[in-house]
Amino acid sequence: MIDQTRLPQELVVLDIPDIPTLVAAIRRLSVRGAPAIGVAGAYGVALAVHLYGNTGPKLAEAISAVRSARPTAVNLAKMVDRTAARVSAGLEEVLAEADRIRDEELAASISMGEYGADLADELIGEAAARAMTICNTGGLAAVSRGTALAVIQTLHERGRLEMALPTETRPLLQGGRLTTWELGRMGAPFRLLVDGAAPFLLSRGEANLVLAGADRIAANGDVANKIGTFSLALASRHAGVPFIVVAPESTIDLETPTGADIDIEDRGAEEVTSLGGMEVALPGTDALNPAFDITPADFITAIVTDRRIIRPDRGESPQTVPRGELRTNQSDNPENV
Ligand code: MRU
Repeated sequence: MIDQTRLPQELVVLDIPDIPTLVAAIRRLSVRGAPAIGVAGAYGVALAVHLYGNTGPKLAEAISAVRSARPTAVNLAKMVDRTAARVSAGLEEVLAEADRIRDEELAASISMGEYGADLADELIGEAAARAMTICNTGGLAAVSRGTALAVIQTLHERGRLEMALPTETRPLLQGGRLTTWELGRMGAPFRLLVDGAAPFLLSRGEANLVLAGADRIAANGDVANKIGTFSLALASRHAGVPFIVVAPESTIDLETPTGADIDIEDRGAEEVTSLGGMEVALPGTDALNPAFDITPADFITAIVTDRRIIRPDRGESPQTVPRGELRTNQSDNPENV
């Protein structure tokens, strides 16, 4: 896997020979983003079977360590459970299930791009898209084209993107480091924002769409996503700009009734008190560092998945809208993935 902590300076590929290395890579965000950690978790189960065989306490301990490496994104636990259910069938079967999960996420990202770009056209009409986004929701976070960034990429390929406006996304700068890297590679026009500028720029009409990913979507449509997402949703409401969440079906968790039931990961103070290894606060400063927040469904215009568009602004939720078809328009062109 690509070590995302080293981007954009260096493109380093990590070897993951054992379970502690994988768990550490997930915890320090070398691999991150809900669908990507789901896929990493699935291959982690295959690695555990390869190392420990398909039964016994070492295997159980390894699977449990991978499953709980990060709590908020439902994809990790879901995909670990899905592959773990194949363990008794042997390594080949577990590996085949992990491959299936990877391929499903790849197809999902193409489909989300199509659904999302069509919805954007419907919401903004003839105007070109000026799309604000948060964190990193591209291929790095989701195997291939990603989620919210897949919509931006599809709009760009359709000639409908005027400007992408990623926020830096403190404290770990996934927007500044990773989204700029991906937008640069796709040749899309973009300008980077400090997080604090986003609400004001929205109120000034600089963006006509806000696109965010999700780590877990509760049954009622509340969304957990990178810290700062709720602020963007509030500001979008104030400015009258559509706020769209883009996530694969695998991120919907019908077993979690509302956002209040989602476990929000708290991370270390040092992520806030330092920047790139340099102290930026009074030595000894403590910090509050929730990695995610909850955006209530009431503040969400639409949730776009790979199989449907759910409109919380019309009273819809994941429980009330049936799944539709996967859209694969671009799958025949691997250059686009
Ligand atoms: O802490 P991170 O970087 O793993 O958080 C990631 C996000 O919040 C993304 O927006 C989310 O996983 C959707 S990614 C396709």
